[in-house]
Amino acid sequence: MKKELEMNENLLALIQEHGTPLFMLDHDKLRENYRTFKKHLPRIQCYYAVKANSTQQIIETLFTEGSSFDVASYREFIQVYQYIKHFERKAKKYYVWDKIIFSNTIKDRHTLAKIKQYKPLVTYDNAAELKKLKDHCDTAGLVLRLKVPDIGSQVEMSSKFGAEPGDAASLIQQAFDMGLNVEGVSFHVGSQCTNFDNYAQALEISSEVFHDARKKGFGLNLVDIGGGFPVPYDTLVPQFEKLAAILNAEIKRLFPDDIEILAEPGRFIVATAATLISEIIGKARRDGKIYYHINDGVYHTFSGVVYDHWIPNFTAFKEGPSEICAVVGPTCDSFDKISLSVELPANLEVGDFLFTENIGAYSTASSTKFNGFEGAKIVHLNFDESAA
Ligand SMILES: Cc1ncc(COP(=O)(O)O)c(C=O)c1O
Repeated sequence: MKKELEMNENLLALIQEHGTPLFMLDHDKLRENYRTFKKHLPRIQCYYAVKANSTQQIIETLFTEGSSFDVASYREFIQVYQYIKHFERKAKKYYVWDKIIFSNTIKDRHTLAKIKQYKPLVTYDNAAELKKLKDHCDTAGLVLRLKVPDIGSQVEMSSKFGAEPGDAASLIQQAFDMGLNVEGVSFHVGSQCTNFDNYAQALEISSEVFHDARKKGFGLNLVDIGGGFPVPYDTLVPQFEKLAAILNAEIKRLFPDDIEILAEPGRFIVATAATLISEIIGKARRDGKIYYHINDGVYHTFSGVVYDHWIPNFTAFKEGPSEICAVVGPTCDSFDKISLSVELPANLEVGDFLFTENIGAYSTASSTKFNGFEGAKIVHLNFDESAA
């Protein structure tokens, strides 16, 4: 039987002040995750993947910590750029490249035209993108994204992104022939990657492409190892420290010391920094099973159940004999089922609260306003307003 949680005074006060659903984002935990990443991967510059959770205060906290950012759209670009626009271009530390990588391999022409003035660092993985870059954003530094194994990752990437390694030499040659500059290579081993061989193989593939290009006289000088760093959602997830040791050793073995190594962690930074309080708004027995209807669902903060293959967790604040229950969302859509198999006390009632942890990544980021439900209110804990 699952342990029930204690409702403490602070939590109750927050619920009374803000109502539910309540998404509590702890900036101390964000800072801790960022520092853990940096501690174990000191050589790697961390570009937080804004897509995981684009809440402005997260960017602010991480910017203050010294993080850089991975963005995928003009809006995300500006969300970050606002913190660097007033810095002197001469100060190397604050060059756009040092703070932002535009890592969506496909960018529309209008976006390219808008970011041209910033001389951005962008990824590409095909020849049509090169033509677009030449026509609309020839100031960019280019990073060739490679297709790499993503076996066993929670969210695979390689079916939609990445050039075949066999096409890499030609895509690099074509870029230079067009007068563009390729700065390096990148990859993404799939999100929540617990199979560390994916990283080892991706580094091997990248190293072959990198050294082949250098032999041909192309001055590549960066490798971007993407995201995928696993969050300890359960005890079976292998330790980040083990992955870091593999990465440090393989990067040292495969690449020169004087190049830049980037990474784009998303969920690793933000997943464990948020918890959600939802409220039971209805209870019914359907085909013998208890259905707890709560005021948040898959169209809202639990969107990761759909888009991120996320397995949700729920804990009650009450004790009682437990059984396997369903927990479903508030919309008038039968698809809005968060889980059909959660062990919860059978004696929960309308007005009782449920607690969900590790819900910071790919949750509010893809929440909609479907059916007129606003989604969870975000409250910031330990946020330093004066920092950025
Ligand atoms: C290009 C790119 N970089 C980084 C990330 C972040 O990945 P993760 O959250 O697995 O660290 C993503 C998200 O899937 C992505 O598409």
